[in-house]
Amino acid sequence: MTHISERESELPDTIFLQLQELAAEHKDIISLSIGEPDFKTPKPILDAAKKFMVNGTHYSPAAGRTDLRQAIAQKLRKENKISADWENVIVTAGSQQGLMAALLATVDPTEEVVMTSPGYLGYLPTVELANGVPVFVRLNENDGWQINPDEIKKKITKKTVAIIVNTPANPTGTVLRKKILEEISDIAIQNNIYIFSDEAYEKIIYGGAKHISIGSLNGMDEHVVTFNTFSKTYAMCGFRLGYMQGPKEFVNAVSKVHHFMEICAPHTSQLAGLAALKLPNKYVNTMVREYDRRRKLIIKRLNEISLKTVNPEGTFYALADISEFSNSSVKFAKDLIKKARVACVPGTEFGPYGEGLVRFSYANDYDMIKKAMDRIGKALRRGP
Ligand SMILES: Cc1ncc(COP(=O)(O)O)c(C=O)c1O
Repeated sequence: MTHISERESELPDTIFLQLQELAAEHKDIISLSIGEPDFKTPKPILDAAKKFMVNGTHYSPAAGRTDLRQAIAQKLRKENKISADWENVIVTAGSQQGLMAALLATVDPTEEVVMTSPGYLGYLPTVELANGVPVFVRLNENDGWQINPDEIKKKITKKTVAIIVNTPANPTGTVLRKKILEEISDIAIQNNIYIFSDEAYEKIIYGGAKHISIGSLNGMDEHVVTFNTFSKTYAMCGFRLGYMQGPKEFVNAVSKVHHFMEICAPHTSQLAGLAALKLPNKYVNTMVREYDRRRKLIIKRLNEISLKTVNPEGTFYALADISEFSNSSVKFAKDLIKKARVACVPGTEFGPYGEGLVRFSYANDYDMIKKAMDRIGKALRRGP
């Protein structure tokens, strides 16, 4: 017998998972699709996790271990300039779960959440699972994929609960400018709505770009919920560890949802997270330097083969314009697998305004990226 909820049936069929499976099955395919660091988790973190695995763990308090929440609050105060109190921090199973809990706690059926497209593919289904309505703001390549706050204004209605802001942004690689964050803050204050600020890639930035947490801006304490994760900064995707910080009333409400969703974030991972927050900067800096080397390579090569790409200032993604070759990003991505044995993600995965684009991840070995670009150049009959 099968009975599937309407909620589940209406979730989009993501082609991303199919591509991932295909790339895993066929070893000759170079996967530039996955959004996961290719680096090993730094050793001090693994050592900490090992030690705690041997000793065993139990449930932690629902919102997370107090020492971890305190360490996170301290990090947010020091690095992000957010006036965070440890009691307003909830430790989650990755930021994806944090986002789900936050939306379940704040969005009633038919209420709206504003987000950008192209934007992270997890937002739309998460809002829909909460029976909310995703409302999209179109990003423009000519603006360097920065958000135009006037476009946000046009989308605000009486039903808007929150605006999701993602900086540095997946899949565009954009680091949002302070002025734009200030304008978005004004919109949130004027309309009395939340800003959900997803800062998963905060440390993966290049060339002097500066990451600014919108929660650090004047008067935003009551409006901003900051989501973060250990997945990208510390190459800890499999640990499933993240956190959110926000206004007291919000945190109290989300705590209940969070408790019934997962009781607590994985406790061993929380202990590993404590070790991660104590890690000297050199570990992260080494990874970012290598991403930067690959970024320079991939952007140069993509542009040479007429896959026009705005230079990303953050993340490990390059969003390429395929309009010279195809008007369907799904077909382009499928053909690329067949003809070049390279996997990328079609832009249609990133919301209604992603057609005509594909995303390449450079969380892959430098020489593999080189090889992938050679193959793509050959398949498209373009080269340096
Ligand atoms: C922008 C963004 N936010 C959130 C996530 C979810 O990450 P996690 O649940 O591992 O913290 C991802 C993963 O790719 C992402 O790209």
